Amino acid sequence: MRRYRQAKWDEPIIFDLGHLDETIDEKIIEITSKYVPNKYVRKKLAIPDIPKTRTIRHFMRLTQMNYAVDLGLYPLGSCTMKYNPKFVEYILAQLPLSNLHPLQPSETIQGFLSILYEFKKYLCDLTGMDAFTLQPAAGAHGEYVGVLIIKKYHEVNGNSFKDEIIVPDSAHGTNPASAKMGGFKIVEIPSDKHGLVDIEALKSAISKYTAGMMLTNPNTLGLFEKNVLEISRIIHEVDGLLYYDGANLNAIIGWARPGDMGFDIVHVNLHKTLGTPHGGGGPGSGPVGVKNFLKEYLPIPYLDHKGGEYILREDLKYTIGKVHGYYGNIGVILRAYMYLISVGGDRLKKISAKAVVNSNYMLKKMVKIKGVELPYDPNMPRMHEFVVSLKKLKNDTGVTTRDVAKKLLDYGLHPPTIYFPLIVEEAMMFEPTESASKEEIDEYITIFNKIIEDAYRNPSTVKNSPNNTSVKRIDEAYGSRPKTMAPTYRWLKKRA
Ligand SMILES: Cc1ncc(COP(=O)(O)O)c(C=O)c1O
Repeated sequence: MRRYRQAKWDEPIIFDLGHLDETIDEKIIEITSKYVPNKYVRKKLAIPDIPKTRTIRHFMRLTQMNYAVDLGLYPLGSCTMKYNPKFVEYILAQLPLSNLHPLQPSETIQGFLSILYEFKKYLCDLTGMDAFTLQPAAGAHGEYVGVLIIKKYHEVNGNSFKDEIIVPDSAHGTNPASAKMGGFKIVEIPSDKHGLVDIEALKSAISKYTAGMMLTNPNTLGLFEKNVLEISRIIHEVDGLLYYDGANLNAIIGWARPGDMGFDIVHVNLHKTLGTPHGGGGPGSGPVGVKNFLKEYLPIPYLDHKGGEYILREDLKYTIGKVHGYYGNIGVILRAYMYLISVGGDRLKKISAKAVVNSNYMLKKMVKIKGVELPYDPNMPRMHEFVVSLKKLKNDTGVTTRDVAKKLLDYGLHPPTIYFPLIVEEAMMFEPTESASKEEIDEYITIFNKIIEDAYRNPSTVKNSPNNTSVKRIDEAYGSRPKTMAPTYRWLKKRA
């Protein structure tokens, strides 16, 4: 069994390392004043005065107390923590990109714009969409952009009264949150006994007020919504739009396309599916793609190609306006572009296939462990991720999903996503991705099994964890589920 001790540095926060020196070098102020109006030139800046080497050591120590996808398996379900290629960093460092200015006239950055344009074309090919914006800074931001497009579309078509967005109860919290931020009412529909969208509930939820539906496929239980064409028909029947939450694209990329499933708008989480760093590792990117009839609604500036030139258009007829400065999170976009052109179409198919195989291999081993149950249809194949429930373990021993997750840290393993989706009690959602080797998955399962055995033998050893980490168990703020998802589909029936 692996032994693990995380580095423990009693490292103060950076502001306690040196005294706060507020002065700025006169020379810097003088040079800045030449370019910046005087009232904006900072004369003082409170940053700690620390030697360079101490600063480096500060951050190195912090990284040693952290976990990363380069340290081990990171099976954070729905987050797709996969290998971030290193050659990409190397190439980026060679490119003189930092010499470009975002306000440079487009005719001086044609090469750069051609990369972005080509990338948009690849995204269209992969998703079955007709046009893309690269601006949104994350999946959730993409959702918000999509929701604004839905809103504007109905306004333009004289249907402003359409004020409801349907989301399944398995949806990620960002779906109803984005819809709510866009000013919509949320209509939550239940999953059926298989864990899929309940078609009858959906039928009773739709009405003239339906503006659209947000769906991820495979859903957050890792199940492919096999009735997606029927779902699309139902939503379109009442002139609603279907939004694809691309968080789970890694399960199908290269094999199936949301555009062919009837989706009108999609986002792609580049920091998940296309192997760029995310979480604490850097900003994200959530490009949004639409079918042709929604192209004029995309944010501006919109990158287009006309007369042999790449241009930034501000004249889209129904644009929702600006959603991000300049071109989006370029560092992430370029990394994803390089990832894509390096793997190519055939390997992309192998990548998603391996992600699904790894997930099913892990699942088969996981469900043999005492106290671990597989909710919903056990006979339906899971895709790139799966969700188990530790409800039985909790009932038998008092040890919760949270306790097991904390104990995994003691072995230097990253826990899966926990307590999500909300429809599974004591949920654990695993997504090993294609980056995991069989040996890594086997080791993970062995350790997981040992933790469960310990929970049955001596629950306190699990409940009091973690002990080997630089930070012990911290206080948690427990809350009940917010009521934002109401009203439900039942309420809808009463609406005139
Ligand atoms: C299913 C699902 N939808 C949406 C999101 C939001 O994506 P992002 O974290 O890029 O904002 C996530 C994030 O994990 C997710 O799992």
